[in-house]
Amino acid sequence: MNGKFPQHFLWGGAVAANQVEGAYQADGKGLSTSDLQPQGIFGAITPRTAGDSGIKDVAIDFYHRYPEDIALFAEMGFKCLRTSIAWTRIFPQGDEETPNEAGLAFYDRLFDEMAKYDIQPLITLSHYEMPYGLVKRYGGWGDRRTIDFFERYARTVFERYKHKVKHWLTFNEINMSLHAPFTGVGLPPESDKSAIYQAIHHQLVASAKAVKACHEIVPEGKIGNMLLGGILYPLSCKPEDLLETQRQNRDWLFFGDVQARGYYPAYMQRFFRENGIEVAITEEDRRTLRETIDFISFSYYMSGCVTADPEQYETARGNILDMVPNPHLASSEWGWQIDPIGLRYLLNVLYDRYQKPLFIVENGLGAKDRVEADGSITDDYRINYLNDHLVQVAEAIDDGVEVMGYTSWGPIDLVSASKAEMSKRYGFIHVDRDDAGNGSLERRRKKSFYWYRDVIHSNGASLKDRR
Ligand code: BG6
Repeated sequence: MNGKFPQHFLWGGAVAANQVEGAYQADGKGLSTSDLQPQGIFGAITPRTAGDSGIKDVAIDFYHRYPEDIALFAEMGFKCLRTSIAWTRIFPQGDEETPNEAGLAFYDRLFDEMAKYDIQPLITLSHYEMPYGLVKRYGGWGDRRTIDFFERYARTVFERYKHKVKHWLTFNEINMSLHAPFTGVGLPPESDKSAIYQAIHHQLVASAKAVKACHEIVPEGKIGNMLLGGILYPLSCKPEDLLETQRQNRDWLFFGDVQARGYYPAYMQRFFRENGIEVAITEEDRRTLRETIDFISFSYYMSGCVTADPEQYETARGNILDMVPNPHLASSEWGWQIDPIGLRYLLNVLYDRYQKPLFIVENGLGAKDRVEADGSITDDYRINYLNDHLVQVAEAIDDGVEVMGYTSWGPIDLVSASKAEMSKRYGFIHVDRDDAGNGSLERRRKKSFYWYRDVIHSNGASLKDRR
């Protein structure tokens, strides 16, 4: 793999505030939508009452242990760490006029710690959470006023961190609201399609406003979107399957089309009409949307297939998407189909479509790990998964795709998003905590820790083409 990765490639890892920080009420933090989903994004929405708790309340206690964790990331040679700001640390209810200084100060400390090791922050403004106050009082993203609250929050953090953070992302996996509306846009799960697309429209406008604000405020700042890269293949070469695949891929590419091109793609008119969906879009919204992102970022874990024949539908479940299983691929313990070549294909699809730089900001294998009697953890399955995906990234770079960086998901074990499990581990670093919340929270290096350190130090030259 010698020489394929560019010299300043941003190697690193990605986490999210609600899955690592814990300290869910510390220093004035308000409740977020994530705090109301102790069982994960598909679990029940549970009002918080005194005395109840969920695993995310402590998570891996990154809020207090970040210096140790950043030092471990630095030991692996990270150039970049992706995390999110918890909106509720800055605006606890969402609609305050002035921000919470204690929340702002926490992220100052975090970014200063990263700077000590030359680790560049890549910061998501909203990763699967929003202030619950905005849901209660305004109905979340269903209400246009949420755009202004988000803009105030975005401008506040851009001003505050403009000399510390140069790379930003707007909404994590913005297309997932179609599948998990409470997590994505703060709407009840049973909301109808018009309500969901209206809320999505508000979020797209808010994303464009954040792009504009970033360009105005952050010197040399770059801001991207973030897509759940759920690429789909036709199950057969039947024209009907191909057409259905194009239709379903457009369900998620639509978000990238608006964010990268600055307007609604033509195919959405027919989709809205045939599905009885009405979305109010003002002339001012259309002007705002023209402010487009600088780069495309996305997560990639699995691919899936599509058939036009509903009888052949047998589900392969990801955390968000249901797909028809691909008979040529193996699956993880959680049923996610493993497809490294799909990553090369997706990189090419996105680059052909947008001609903007791409950033892979999530990729990884959730697996159960065994700690041996001597304390070691031999996670060859994780090494193989990541190695094979990175080999395909190198191929895509060779294809001419501009790739800015790669942040593997969960470089340190964290709480999973879909079911709030600790036993589904992604990390190079093990955290002693189980699904019931027992454990010392002690950190431990796995075999993959040393493997990733070598990959980064050799700028990818140590990767092995195992095909
Ligand atoms: C992505 C999310 O969908 O997948 C992350 O952006 C999430 O927040 C990751 O953790 C892996 O999913 P899970 O359900 O295994 O945690």
